[in-house]
Amino acid sequence: MSVAVILVAAGQGERLGAGKPKALVHVAGVTLLEHAIARAVATKNLSQLVITATPGFLEEFVELAKPHVPSGIQLSAVQGGETRQLSIALALGEVSNSAEVILVHDAARAFTPTEVFDRVVAEVLASGFGVIPVIPVHDTVKRSEGSEVLETIDRSELRVAQTPQGFPAKLFREAYAAITKDHTDDASLIQANGHRVLSVPGDRMAMKVTTKDDLILASHLIGGQQRTGIGTDTHRFSEDSAKPLFLGTIEWPGERGLDGHSDGDALSHAIVDALLSAAGLGDIGSNFGVDRPEFQGANGQVFLTETLAKLAEAGFAIINVSAQIIGNRPKVAPMREQVEQVLSSILKAPVTISATTTDGLGFLGNTEGVAVVASALIQRKDE
Ligand code: CTP
Ligand code: MG
Repeated sequence: MSVAVILVAAGQGERLGAGKPKALVHVAGVTLLEHAIARAVATKNLSQLVITATPGFLEEFVELAKPHVPSGIQLSAVQGGETRQLSIALALGEVSNSAEVILVHDAARAFTPTEVFDRVVAEVLASGFGVIPVIPVHDTVKRSEGSEVLETIDRSELRVAQTPQGFPAKLFREAYAAITKDHTDDASLIQANGHRVLSVPGDRMAMKVTTKDDLILASHLIGGQQRTGIGTDTHRFSEDSAKPLFLGTIEWPGERGLDGHSDGDALSHAIVDALLSAAGLGDIGSNFGVDRPEFQGANGQVFLTETLAKLAEAGFAIINVSAQIIGNRPKVAPMREQVEQVLSSILKAPVTISATTTDGLGFLGNTEGVAVVASALIQRKDE
């Protein structure tokens, strides 16, 4: 028994509006095409993968596909047609006669788990009919005309159709040979040709990426490409009791200041280190070294703003930052909310601050200085 998958990826992705074919758009640093292929090629008994490529991108699609396709699986590719159905008709010409089950899968449903492919194949073999994965409709569904809501539809009979849709190869070829009009999916084509179609449970992960929102949702669903970083900084309290304390870019009234090459803002500096290390961009010393006079006495905001720009340039967005101030002084509670607000607005992401003492131990316990530990979580931005 052998299975062929036709992976339709020849669309333009107009509704996504990425300025390139949807299949080439990245989620978590990997193209949708590759996400789809990686899951499809693990299908049991798969012998062939035929990809339909956006006109002008055939070679690029094949080069992206190759590393993901194991040697026992035949990889073919064709340039797609005007419509999804025409693309599939062209791909069908490439499907080997030895394939007994043909699956058609949207590359736009790039995160469909392999189990769904296997479930569809098993039911095609067991029934001899066409089989599609479906999920129930949980929302209340209305029929309306313009802004006028006319009635509530009984959703108990409604199902959302997904892909891969699977068919006995013979039925599928006959249906494509007899096409008279355009159908939005292959199940309706098979039914128009007089054959039954069954369903198996689909999967939420088989969602179709159509608009920008779907891309964000998909990125969250698969966990994105997140990285954490850690940073610490320690500064000594100044001998000068009149020196103001700057922590988290703002002044803390009534607290003694800290010494340092800059303004001694251990909180901002620890956060900068956490962010830079999460992005693999070195640390505060390698980016804003003591040899750079422009940072002498600089406020923490200068470092934070520049760090945010460096992260953005490297393709990262901040998810959140958490920092802990360690020492007897300053008293953090009265300033916590204000500092969190200021730092969150500078970094455009939630920054939370906690505080602790060391039970009187060491240089923090005898109020010689302040230490801060910060951790940052960042995520690669998708295009
Ligand atoms: N598809 C195809 N050939 C076409 C049109 C679509 O192979 N002529 C594929 C798409 O690449 C996609 C799937 O069919 O994987 C479902 O189509 P859709 O989600 O509509 O993708 P696009 O057509 O690329 O998007 P849009 O309609 O927004 O342009
Ligand atoms: Mg389309």
